[in-house]
Amino acid sequence: MKYILSPSILAADFSCLRDDIRKADEAGAEYLHIDVMDGWFVPAISFGQPVVTSIRGCTDRFFDVHLMVQDPERYIADFAKAGADGITVHAEACRHLDRVLDEIHEAGCRAGIALNPATSLAALDYVCDKADMVLVMTVNPGFGGQKLIPAMYGKIRDLRRILDGKGLPTDIEVDGGVNISTLPKLLDAGANVIVAGSAVFHGDVGQNVSVLNGMLKDYENR
Ligand code: DX5
Ligand code: ZN
Repeated sequence: MKYILSPSILAADFSCLRDDIRKADEAGAEYLHIDVMDGWFVPAISFGQPVVTSIRGCTDRFFDVHLMVQDPERYIADFAKAGADGITVHAEACRHLDRVLDEIHEAGCRAGIALNPATSLAALDYVCDKADMVLVMTVNPGFGGQKLIPAMYGKIRDLRRILDGKGLPTDIEVDGGVNISTLPKLLDAGANVIVAGSAVFHGDVGQNVSVLNGMLKDYENR
């Protein structure tokens, strides 16, 4: 299994976004997590396609776009065109999740399904074979800097067991409250794509990426 760090630019300094992205890239972050919020599915508004288009020129790293947007099928083509490599939609935000996953693949991107903390894994029952990744939200979506909800460790463990049982190689991404203390437990539970906002962009970005990536490498080679 491959372990991947996906720094969330929501916690970056938007006045010098290019510099922050380059620091994360140069320190070895494989993905860049891009949180799009619509002010409806979640209370906050973050940024949209024009920002993704602009930062596409700053790095060749994988753009891991997390759409916290109601009815996200309206924007799949736009984000693919802006440079998304992977697009994750919330099961709770899609009227026809199965079709949306097809649309993401047709747009040439990897497809992810995100689940809010209170959403049951049963939401994945008939669609998980269509997802390249499942994003287990470890906080309620909408803001950076929140504390991880401990009940999510068990949810990740259950999900890994279900995916293994089906023989699926699906990635499990975790998002919210990830730091050097919560990371080992998330890895033990079965997560392999790790989003980190404040833990990367607050403080020394390069050093934060190196420390977290080092922990992922150690886990991979354990
Ligand atoms: C929360 C976003 C996260 C957020 C994580 O709704 O989806 O990606 O940036 O921030 P931290 O790592 O600070 O909890
Ligand atoms: Zn996110």
